[in-house]
Amino acid sequence: MAYSSSRHQSEVMKRRDLKASSFLKINKLSDIAGAEIIDIDLREPIKLETYEAIISALLEHHVLVFRNQKLSKEVQVEFTKQFGELEEHVGRLPDGNRYPLMHTVTNLDPATGIPTTAPHTHGNYFWHTDKSYHAVPSLMTILFAVDVPPTGGDTLFCNMHAAYDALSKSEKEALIGLKAVHSWEASRLNTGNIPASEEQKRERPPVIHPVIRTHPETNKKSLYLGMHVDHLCGIPTIESRRLLETLLENATVERNIYRHSWQKGDLVMWDNRCLLHRGDRNYDMSAHARILHRTVVKGSKPI
Ligand SMILES: [Fe+2]
Repeated sequence: MAYSSSRHQSEVMKRRDLKASSFLKINKLSDIAGAEIIDIDLREPIKLETYEAIISALLEHHVLVFRNQKLSKEVQVEFTKQFGELEEHVGRLPDGNRYPLMHTVTNLDPATGIPTTAPHTHGNYFWHTDKSYHAVPSLMTILFAVDVPPTGGDTLFCNMHAAYDALSKSEKEALIGLKAVHSWEASRLNTGNIPASEEQKRERPPVIHPVIRTHPETNKKSLYLGMHVDHLCGIPTIESRRLLETLLENATVERNIYRHSWQKGDLVMWDNRCLLHRGDRNYDMSAHARILHRTVVKGSKPI
């Protein structure tokens, strides 16, 4: 059974008293973000009550970790479809082909298949929210851990509600109405990646989003930033760059971060509408494989 985002939004709002813990075994992983859900097999279609409990838990904890899953690529795609329409990627594989809807995040060299310190792309090691260079960016991203290093290779999540809440009254007022230009081209430049091709620039022209984003389901405000931002509208380049760096630096402080240490079989789902995330190179990339299967669900235009 598939449940669309718009359908679940209205249904979840009608059931404000729903207790996710009534339908799921949930353990909070940190106060800032993250909860693990145990004793659920995601290979099976989920019931409406379970679906709503998952969404409620996601809205509360922002990052959900489903332990001990065994998912083929096909089953992960089917699982993801229950949360909305899957999103394609503008990026290209080393062979020039487009990423499939289910693509692999890996440090394996595409030619040799052995771990490398210089994978094909490394943008995931910089703070970002997925596909903010889209006019309608991602709602949810799902990563399934196929193989992970014995230690390290973590993924960090930064709670951008908390980052916004920590601003002073005057800092918040200064950001009201401020907009930022996000683009695939800027993302590639900001991360020292292979530059965007002319075809990719045509496919993903720059888009403008508010710096203060209001979550469409909880109405809570957050800062909407990250490596896909090119500049702030109406502010000179140098000043824009400084302000972006300051906002990001102040946002991504330790107290706002949940660090996920992967276990093989983890399926991690997160809400891109209120988080930044990045991978951590805190492992020997030349010795250990880190292979994650990724699916992404389309969201709504930020307001
Ligand atoms: Fe990402």
